[in-house]
Amino acid sequence: MEQHDGTPSRRWTGHTVAVTGSSSGVGRETARRFAEGGARVVIHGRNATKLENVRGMIEQLGAEVRAISGDIADPATARALADAAAELGGCSVLVNNAGMSMRGKFRDISPEVFSTVVETNVVGSALVTQAFLDQIIRTNGSVVFISSVTGMTGFPGISVYAAAKMALTGLAESLRGELLGSGVHVSVVYLGFTENDEDKQILSADGSNLKLKRRYDMTQRAVAIAIERSVRRRKEKVVLTWKGRLLRVLQRISPGLVSAIVRRSGGRFHQMRH
Ligand SMILES: NC(=O)c1ccc[n+]([C@@H]2O[C@H](COP(=O)([O-])OP(=O)(O)OC[C@H]3O[C@@H](n4cnc5c(N)ncnc54)[C@H](OP(=O)(O)O)[C@@H]3O)[C@@H](O)[C@H]2O)c1
Repeated sequence: MEQHDGTPSRRWTGHTVAVTGSSSGVGRETARRFAEGGARVVIHGRNATKLENVRGMIEQLGAEVRAISGDIADPATARALADAAAELGGCSVLVNNAGMSMRGKFRDISPEVFSTVVETNVVGSALVTQAFLDQIIRTNGSVVFISSVTGMTGFPGISVYAAAKMALTGLAESLRGELLGSGVHVSVVYLGFTENDEDKQILSADGSNLKLKRRYDMTQRAVAIAIERSVRRRKEKVVLTWKGRLLRVLQRISPGLVSAIVRRSGGRFHQMRH
């Protein structure tokens, strides 16, 4: 039940929710959303200053919080996150949100960028999910993978990011099959163009930092609300933004048209500035 001001009822009181990559952006807003619903939260990131700011914001909501710092692809980070959630009573909801995007032509992508994008988006999500599995099974909880519309079809200029986000679908579907009958809910949320923090950075083909400049179709807050709602309703697949939903319909009824759109996009809608 949602209240009139858009804040969730105290649905999550007594539950522990862990959100990776919650030092900024969508992850921060998702952690805030669950805390507003009464959850104890485990937050995570590498930037200590940002992480402390989010901790302060969540404590102000009256929620209990643990902050874990570390690279998401390091198994020690996964263990520390799971230990923190266990200290808070055991995790009911894990949101695998930490991610890194890139822009650049396939032929120019450095080996380091291939590795970083796959390790951050795929290996990190897998290691954290594995570390949380027993807790999630015990609570009949939810595991959410944050993907992208780019995880539904590739687009020119974002090849390895598209590959990594598509891999999350494979991970989720396999895990769902393995956990059949366990009461665990596994979902993938495909985000469209979302509001970015001012200082958000992604990788260029050579590994240098890029700032993204583009319009967005959803605010971070609206995305966080959609993620929390999808967990409450135990949805397995959620596609956000009207463009994402249109893509989903077109993929079903006219895959050839989707291929033509992708070919002609030429990466135009991914404007960049240094
Ligand atoms: N924004 C969009 O339009 C959009 C669209 C589709 C999908 N998504 C997906 O939504 C998720 C959140 O995106 P966002 O826009 O909120 O991005 P963001 O503001 O850049 O946040 C990314 C988060 O991930 C963490 N992170 C990145 N690499 C990490 C690493 N190696 N180890 C540990 N933490 C790491 C960052 O923490 P530190 O900075 O503290 O390291 C940060 O908290 C990502 O999975 C992204 O791919 C976003």
